[in-house]
Amino acid sequence: MTETPTMTESEDAVPAVANLDTIVSLSKRRGFVYPSSEIYGGINAVWDYGPLGVELKNNVKRAWWRAMVQEREDIVGLDAGILMHPQVWVTSGHVGSFSDPLVECATCHRRYRLDELPGAEGLSASDLRDPTVVERLGLICPNDGGPLSAPRRFNLMFTSHMGPVEDAASIVYFRPETAQGSYVNFKNVQQSSRKKIPFGIAQIGKSFRNEISPGNFVFRMREFEQMEMQYFVRPGEPASAAFEEWLPKRRAWYERYGVAPARLRFREHAKDELAHYAKKAIDVEYRFPFGWKELEGIHNRGDFDLGSHAKASGENLEYFDQATGEHFIPWVVETAAGADRAAFTFLIDAYREEEVRGETRVVLGFHPELAPYKVAVLPLLKKRPEIVELCHRLRADLATDVLAVYDDTAAIGKLYRRQDEIGTPWCVTVDVDSLDDGAVTVRDRDSMAQERVPVEGVKRLILDRLAAARAA
Ligand code: GAP
Repeated sequence: MTETPTMTESEDAVPAVANLDTIVSLSKRRGFVYPSSEIYGGINAVWDYGPLGVELKNNVKRAWWRAMVQEREDIVGLDAGILMHPQVWVTSGHVGSFSDPLVECATCHRRYRLDELPGAEGLSASDLRDPTVVERLGLICPNDGGPLSAPRRFNLMFTSHMGPVEDAASIVYFRPETAQGSYVNFKNVQQSSRKKIPFGIAQIGKSFRNEISPGNFVFRMREFEQMEMQYFVRPGEPASAAFEEWLPKRRAWYERYGVAPARLRFREHAKDELAHYAKKAIDVEYRFPFGWKELEGIHNRGDFDLGSHAKASGENLEYFDQATGEHFIPWVVETAAGADRAAFTFLIDAYREEEVRGETRVVLGFHPELAPYKVAVLPLLKKRPEIVELCHRLRADLATDVLAVYDDTAAIGKLYRRQDEIGTPWCVTVDVDSLDDGAVTVRDRDSMAQERVPVEGVKRLILDRLAAARAA
């Protein structure tokens, strides 16, 4: 069993990017992320993924699915609905307790999440529930200095109505987590897949939270995607052991795909900070440009979920262990990550600026698996039709296996820089000599080394390098 890490490590890591604006502007300029509904002035806390962003996020989700489902015999996938029976959210505790402390300014009527006010950072969970806290700490509105109300709990779930009648009986909730879909399907999945405990259910999908103070670009949004895995285990010590085993695995996943180890750490939740369902919780945190923040939560949820749903639904959700003849409600160990937050982290951590021959080169040093384009095919002379034609043939051949792009809109030096800036691991250049000797130049993003390769060997070379990066 691994020892639970503490938060003493990596306290002073330097962020990969000093200023978040660098990433926000690169994202917009190169087509990773745009503000949603921008032509109407935008909508707060919703972002749209552009041509490169959707590739990056899909690659992140694929990498997670590979590690959590494909490479595991004991975990299977699920894709449950976003809308669920409203009783699910009553039983889960979300209707009663999924809330943040909200304060309102008496003069400008702006609303804030209490723990994000200047002077309230680092308050304990008990302080956040204390009705006298605003007065006690002398907190005022950061906008106009006006007096703030005492905190009240603000439920984060979005609601709507199902069907043509809008009344209390037709209320539905947009799910704030994917986890509940896995709990209510526990029996379906266990029986249809014939899995024995311990086994897990993994899901990737949209979740919605009416966050009081979203922000920091895609870090905290109101519509986002989660990658969550619920691991069903025997109660007690086996659950604690499984919890400890998942910690290093999840941290290693971020490192495997390129996040600097020094910018990752674990932080254990204090007793009064634990979510209503959690017996123990440790966050994987990343050193963002705006501080250490949660990337993923790992939770020992005990029998809270299956126990509560069994009681409220009347359904027997016990597991029968044929080997021992025991019946019991399994405990759940959850790994709960955000797809947007992970993609954002990989993007930030991949960013670097280097001096090359007196000029600044911007590089996104993505792991090749995560890079939006794996390869760019570039003509040295776009005026020669035979060169352009060979480029298109090569790109089409590569595109049957990987995302490949053709570009002839600038001189070769500039084309290389453009690909570096979006993290394309390899560029293939076709020149006049290629027409005679049938060879092309393959250039590596990180070392900038160039090698001559027979055109018919290019695809094999790229696929071999991708496979080597995946295996590393
Ligand atoms: N099922 C447990 C659960 O949902 P959580 O810590 O509330 O736990 C898990 O959320 C992960 O989902 C977070 O670590 C984060 O990566 C992502 N996430 C949560 N709220 C988010 C938001 N408003 N915007 C973007 N990602 C969010």
